[in-house]
Amino acid sequence: MIPSSTLNPGAASPLYLQLQRTLRSLIQASEWKAGMRLPAVPELAQRFKVHRLTVLKALAGLKRTGWVQTVAGRGSFVADHLPEAPALLDPDTFPFQGSSLRVREDELGPWLGETLELAQNRLLVSFSAGFPPSDLLPGEALRRLYAKTMRELDASAWVYAAPSGHASYLEAVAAWLGAEGEPVPPGWGVRAIPGAQAGLAVVLETLTVPGDRVLVESPCYMGALALIRTLGREAVPVPVDRNGLNPDRLASILQKGDAKLLFTVPTFHNPTGMTLSRARRERILALTRQHGVTVVEDDTYGDLRFIGGRTPSFRSLPGAEHVIHLGSFSKSLAAGLRLGYLIAPDAVLSRISIVQEVHTVALPTLSQAVVGHYLESGGFRRHLTRLRKALRERRDAMLEAIQASFPREAEVTEPKGGMHLWVVLPEDVSSLDLHRDAISHGLGFAPGPLFFPDGRGTNCLRLNFSTHAPSVTREAIARLGGLIHARPAAQP
Ligand SMILES: Cc1ncc(COP(=O)(O)O)c(C=O)c1O
Repeated sequence: MIPSSTLNPGAASPLYLQLQRTLRSLIQASEWKAGMRLPAVPELAQRFKVHRLTVLKALAGLKRTGWVQTVAGRGSFVADHLPEAPALLDPDTFPFQGSSLRVREDELGPWLGETLELAQNRLLVSFSAGFPPSDLLPGEALRRLYAKTMRELDASAWVYAAPSGHASYLEAVAAWLGAEGEPVPPGWGVRAIPGAQAGLAVVLETLTVPGDRVLVESPCYMGALALIRTLGREAVPVPVDRNGLNPDRLASILQKGDAKLLFTVPTFHNPTGMTLSRARRERILALTRQHGVTVVEDDTYGDLRFIGGRTPSFRSLPGAEHVIHLGSFSKSLAAGLRLGYLIAPDAVLSRISIVQEVHTVALPTLSQAVVGHYLESGGFRRHLTRLRKALRERRDAMLEAIQASFPREAEVTEPKGGMHLWVVLPEDVSSLDLHRDAISHGLGFAPGPLFFPDGRGTNCLRLNFSTHAPSVTREAIARLGGLIHARPAAQP
């Protein structure tokens, strides 16, 4: 049976993609069974009130993605072996997951290392990095502070700091958070960590065992996915939509009752750049509390806000005793410092401390004292003002270039802070193919499937807008847009 036309010519998504989705859902619902011959093109065109070329384009997409096969002279058939696909998600509600196609793990390779390497390859104009570019670092201020602090600390610069962190660093971090309107409450403590990634590792090791299920955003920061996998825990995806992690989806996944942790990047999310609203945070807090799930909030990008006010962090909302907060100076100051902080209720913090101590013993005394000085002197605040302004200019340059040169149907996020934006291209664009093409043209970005535990995101890409000056970004994004348009037309 063919349904009468369900297509909407006024929708943002082009007709051929709407038709492709409709036909695919007929196959997924087994209304069109494996091996069945598809109605002829003119019949489909008539039923769906579209041009024949639109039908041909939709069929070409289904063929290329393995749902349909054609036999010369006989027509198109539902494929005998259907690709593995998740239940269809409403693309209007969950656009950031990309199409329902998936790639196999072996198609991805050792991406984390490669992405870092590519990002540092000077021959490429790369948008794949996840750290601030050196031209936005306060290099001179740090150099002077190191010299001054070395003199001040004298011999004590070279001994172990206290395992929980150098006192001047911990005090300065607490004062900074207080001045930002998010003081560390009584009964909670702060601990120095060598970055948010190490913070997550130590939390996972303290609160979970191999085989445990850890809820993650879908898409999710790829370093967290790699860590969860490496430690033998299972990453369970929870879809993200325009407003961040979707609480309804979370509620239904929590019903199963076997998740231990929720890992989230609620502010200027990596990779989409979106920020979870306060209302959603409150609901997620209540849901996780009810199900005994610890929330690990990674606030690595929180200080890089360039539009609007701060959304309260999970830990500062009422009823947040099951929250662990990770902060980092990697994006707001310098990734090479390897410094961040972990905030948690005292009882949890003391459990985490035991595990961290056996890993790191202590963090560099000098670097902690330097950052402490920088925070206290107001240097960090002045640096953030400059950094935020530059990030905003760079984001605007990238958005303008995308709007001018990417396909009309592309969906793009407009982050109000952070460093990344997320692009969802038409379903038939493979970001892995595009990536290969881009590299050969001297361009780099992070392909979507890196950010999903289940190989999704085939038509998505993450672009870091912080890396290059606006003029470089404009030129390179225009070239990337040209490559997307120049892909060979799909053959029916
Ligand atoms: C969300 C998120 N968390 C943590 C990290 C790693 O940060 P750190 O250098 O503090 O370990 C990154 C780096 O890209 C990130 O994007």
